[in-house]
Amino acid sequence: MDNNRVIIFDTTLRDGEQSPGASMNLEEKVKIALLLEEMGVDVIEAGFPIASTGDFEAVQAVAKVVKNSTIAGLARATKGDIERCAEAVKLAPRHRIHTFISTSPLHMKHKLQMEPERVLEKVRESVAFARNLVEDVEWSAEDGSRTEHDFLCRCVEAAIDAGARTINIPDTVGYAVPDEYAALIAMLVNRVPNMDKAILSVHCHNDLGLAVANSLAAIATGARQIECTINGLGERAGNAAMEEIVMALRTRHDLMPFTTGIKTENITRASRLVSAITGFVVQPNKAIVGKNAFAHESGIHQDGMLKCAQTYEIMTPESVGLNRSSLVMGKHSGRAAFKDKLKQMGYDLGDNAIEDAFARFKDVADRKKEVFDEDIIALVDEAVFRD
Ligand code: KIV
Ligand code: ZN
Repeated sequence: MDNNRVIIFDTTLRDGEQSPGASMNLEEKVKIALLLEEMGVDVIEAGFPIASTGDFEAVQAVAKVVKNSTIAGLARATKGDIERCAEAVKLAPRHRIHTFISTSPLHMKHKLQMEPERVLEKVRESVAFARNLVEDVEWSAEDGSRTEHDFLCRCVEAAIDAGARTINIPDTVGYAVPDEYAALIAMLVNRVPNMDKAILSVHCHNDLGLAVANSLAAIATGARQIECTINGLGERAGNAAMEEIVMALRTRHDLMPFTTGIKTENITRASRLVSAITGFVVQPNKAIVGKNAFAHESGIHQDGMLKCAQTYEIMTPESVGLNRSSLVMGKHSGRAAFKDKLKQMGYDLGDNAIEDAFARFKDVADRKKEVFDEDIIALVDEAVFRD
């Protein structure tokens, strides 16, 4: 694979589903998985098969229908989890077991109640056990960003020796900042002797709003897989948003010369499908997929847009699957946008009628947050009548 190609690992169906209230049934998971496949997602993490019979069946159903993406399931470092996971993913032509254990002092002491040496043994055992069942094994160091460096290096080296092809370093609690996280990835590249035998992956949570920034910083220093979700869905404040990562790489290719296999024209469709299924509304000002991401209200911006779209848009709405930018009519809109709107609506008015309608449009706009087409029709009818 081209060294600048970044693998997109989508975990909407697993980490995304761990968002309180976002659970999905089997049919819904299959629907989303098929769209992710169509978009060109490399790896789809379909669920956590040991979690429930429903989750097992959903992962199995996804594995049966998806042909081009790798289907992954999550498993803790236990034989029971790993066997169940292998069973659930095995029907997919490409399948992966993703096994994890915590490596930070805090998690080892309080959550696992295990000594570091025992955790290290579990890394070896779990990865080797998974490798006996499938070819493609990913190992994650849960709370990796808060793990002591020497210990993290030993765990990563052991996981690769035991057969892991992908090593994932999650920022589980969204604590890292970009320079620090990029340095952590660089440290692993420089210090782990067998690091060249595996792909380094990142998995960032958004507790400080830095999940996308951290993911992008990490590819600059050696990560080549990014774990992310549609609309940034996920535990607590969510995971890195796939649409933001992919469009940042596409739009700023000059500074970040990396590519993904994502057909970006499907982004809006995927965002709407995930939102409709989970009931999680996308905030209007959300980057890339929010209702206002390609909407312009201020008169100065609307005038600029009418002259040349690049004045206020760094990517085209078509590139994410939207038909066109919208000029939203409100109190900040100017004459140019108003005239353009009338033209789009099929009106050809004389100068006096336009001036009259525009004056009353400003009046209405002062009272309403947004002026709709119906309001404009009423204004124009009155203006034509007076003209
Ligand atoms: O956030 C996290 O650490 C995870 C792992 C299980 C990969 O989701
Ligand atoms: Zn996570």
